Amino acid sequence: RQREIEKALEDILDTAYPVLLEKGAVEAVVCAVAMLEDNPLFNAGTGSRLQSDGRARLTASLMDGRRQRFSAVVNIEKVKNPIKVAHLLQEERFMVLAGREATAFARDRGFSPYNPITKESLAEWGKRCEGTSTVGAVAIDSKGNIASATSTGGVGCETPGRVSDVASPCGTYANGLVGVSCSGRGEDIINAALAVRVATRVNDGMGLQEAMELSLKELGDVRGKAGMIALDKEGQTLCLYNTQSMA
Ligand code: GLY
Repeated sequence: RQREIEKALEDILDTAYPVLLEKGAVEAVVCAVAMLEDNPLFNAGTGSRLQSDGRARLTASLMDGRRQRFSAVVNIEKVKNPIKVAHLLQEERFMVLAGREATAFARDRGFSPYNPITKESLAEWGKRCEGTSTVGAVAIDSKGNIASATSTGGVGCETPGRVSDVASPCGTYANGLVGVSCSGRGEDIINAALAVRVATRVNDGMGLQEAMELSLKELGDVRGKAGMIALDKEGQTLCLYNTQSMA
């Protein structure tokens, strides 16, 4: 399974990198996350974990660091690529939509009904709770624009309507200096405002690695569990986590 995951990530990189070169950071992270959503190996889009009532409610967010705009869909249902809906919301006045209204917005914009539940996710329902494997991407393009995107099916077996960290800049953040996408226990990430915490430190002059290490240490001090992928404007990329693993 680990090899399958690595192969999937390599293929996604091969597809998203030309998009980065041609269209820039925002389009590249949307492309990468949409491909991750399409792969049932990951807990986002197709194959997402189910909430305790057996329904898949999906959350995805995107931050354009250049424009400092955060958009998200929260607990959207029956949509193939939540990240593409979040992408469309970048151009709207109200940039975060939740629940039925998020789904209605997607339908209105031409997203066909799609069932993201797979045989495997249904079989797993009720057995494997409290998992993570949220997906994310961060990118910087040749103009120095940074973008970050994250997508998740949630932790699995949660109270219906539970809101993930991915719904806020706690889980997905980008500005002119840094981009961060988080995975792990959503509640812990929200309590720490993790992605913003790292970005604020970098804004205030700390190096990316130190900012991530310190923020993760503080999270660990209160028994928080998370992982982050991040990059800075020099193109330094880092992946740090205190969860069991991170692909
Ligand atoms: N970090 C994903 C979630 O808790 O929903």
